[in-house]
Amino acid sequence: MPTPTTAPLADALPCPEASASLARKARFWDRIAPRYAAEPIADMAGYEATLQRVQALLSSGHEVLEVGCGTGSTALRLAPFTRRMLATDVSAGMIAMARERLAAQPLPQLRFAVADADAPVGGPGAYDRVLAFSMLHLVADLDQALQRLAQALRPGGLLISKTPCVAEMNPLISRVALPLMRATGKVPPVLCFDAQQLQSAIARQGLEIVSVERHGTRGKDIRAFIVARKPG
Ligand SMILES: C[S@@+](CC[C@H](N)C(=O)[O-])C[C@H]1O[C@@H](n2cnc3c(N)ncnc32)[C@H](O)[C@@H]1O
Repeated sequence: MPTPTTAPLADALPCPEASASLARKARFWDRIAPRYAAEPIADMAGYEATLQRVQALLSSGHEVLEVGCGTGSTALRLAPFTRRMLATDVSAGMIAMARERLAAQPLPQLRFAVADADAPVGGPGAYDRVLAFSMLHLVADLDQALQRLAQALRPGGLLISKTPCVAEMNPLISRVALPLMRATGKVPPVLCFDAQQLQSAIARQGLEIVSVERHGTRGKDIRAFIVARKPG
């Protein structure tokens, strides 16, 4: 299987499996969707801190796109603070569960759709905010996905992301345990980068880094919360 990546990240990507086909990726997430939906959030205080932070960056005039929305928990919390929100995921199973949740808690602003963040999203310049939580390490090609997310933003719009930076993990986990789990289908293919490399990849798409934060409240937090602005 070819090594997924672009030249600038090549040195930092020891995980070679990330270019698995999208159908295969969707299959993984379809399979685990019910379990994912049932799992409690590991760090609820950290999650709430992120929600508060994102909410402060939203307004009732904003068109918002979320990619990799999973079963929609975050979209259901944030959509009331937007004009309109489209939340997408590559997994039809995840989106089916998100739609069930929306049916139980209707929000006129929110719509869910199956879509691949590695493919073009929305019209160019259509969104004031693009959200990507726990998913940028899962795309096939980080530069390409970021390029498409940047294109989806209006000038002055914000990309708001929170991403596990796998290269910041204990190497025994990132280089030994994860590949073993990957080989047995327990985890999906992941890209390995640290927060600095992620910032560089975002900046390569012409976005200005506004802030880099960590919201975790339990031990070492490898999940970088990054806000970046499209100039204009
Ligand atoms: C770890 S879950 C995170 C879900 C949600 N954002 C959250 O924070 O709970 C990753 C999600 O990204 C989705 N995903 C993976 N690759 C994707 C891609 N190329 N395009 C869109 N969604 C993708 C998966 O289907 C899954 O629902």
